[in-house]
Amino acid sequence: APSDPDLVERARAAKERLGEKVFVLGHHYQRDEVIRFADVTGDSFKLARDAAARPEAEYIVFCGVHFMAESADILTSDRQQVVLPDLAAGCSMADMATAEQVAECWDVLTEAGVADVTVPVSYMNSSADIKAFTGRHGGTICTSSNARRALEWAFSQGDGRENKVLFLPDQHLGRNTAVRDMGMSLEECVVYNPHKPNGGLTVEELREAKMILWRGHCSVHGRFTLDSVNDVRERVPGINVLVHPECRHEVVAAADHVGSTEYIIKTLQAAPAGSKWAIGTELNLVRRLANRFAPEGKEVVFLDRTVCFCSTMNRIDLPHLVWALESLADGKVVNRIQVDPETEKFARLALDRMLALP
Ligand code: 13P
Ligand code: SF4
Repeated sequence: APSDPDLVERARAAKERLGEKVFVLGHHYQRDEVIRFADVTGDSFKLARDAAARPEAEYIVFCGVHFMAESADILTSDRQQVVLPDLAAGCSMADMATAEQVAECWDVLTEAGVADVTVPVSYMNSSADIKAFTGRHGGTICTSSNARRALEWAFSQGDGRENKVLFLPDQHLGRNTAVRDMGMSLEECVVYNPHKPNGGLTVEELREAKMILWRGHCSVHGRFTLDSVNDVRERVPGINVLVHPECRHEVVAAADHVGSTEYIIKTLQAAPAGSKWAIGTELNLVRRLANRFAPEGKEVVFLDRTVCFCSTMNRIDLPHLVWALESLADGKVVNRIQVDPETEKFARLALDRMLALP
């Protein structure tokens, strides 16, 4: 539905009143009505890197989900205040690993005698607590655009003994990167289930594994199946299948191209006219890409007609954005996301390791 012209005008006016004081960041999964007000759009890596790009901005309005706003707070100066227009915009995957569960997992690894050769690698889609755990234990953060480099870095750490990686919290990104990009076998990956005693693993399994994958997943990307890929190939002969690495392993294995949201956009930009693409990622982005590339003669379709939006990304809508911007313009800071200094210190260590990856 077209957005309410009155709200559009109010958002524009509030942004104008704020001028240089505000910097609006928008993730690619945001609604059209919101993304049009973003000063910068990007995947989660680009947004983490760009969050600190405007040190003069007093307010950073983050149109995305909670963990992204936390990361922006960690990476910007204490003077800058990060605002998330709706506090209910979380991420179900990030919620699948709590600080208590991860501390318990580390105890299990310690008891099995493998903690001292294990390097944690945590996906950006995790709480600041998990990032701090990662920093404390010598690990790094990664996003879907640098997961391979993060894993290579992790395996090269230590004193030459055989390293393991504890990958949190997305089992699919961990497995897809290890197996598809780095040539590991599926048998070298085990899944740690936080709801089972000892993660549901024996000491032998822990000792033999290269990758210990946390049992987390994205509920949106988890809905694409091998049937989605086979069906679209049958329906549209010659179609290219391009999916996000949060999809299940069999989907990624059957796809032609795999990458982050930014990679998906760049791939379509570079694609020749007349090419056809089925995209396996969130629907706001796919619809926007379909509209954008249709005039260039590139056909973009959704990989599976039954899969929908990321409901938490969608919580940031125009009314919430208007409310946040107008409040800031009136000098009132609402929905501030602030990570406590102790957590921030170690989370920053892990984020800085990611930003320093080659
Ligand atoms: P990107 O890093 O590709 O933007 O992905 C973030 C995300 O939440 C995907 O579900
Ligand atoms: Fe989280 Fe999945 Fe939504 Fe990304 S798409 S924010 S991983 S629930």
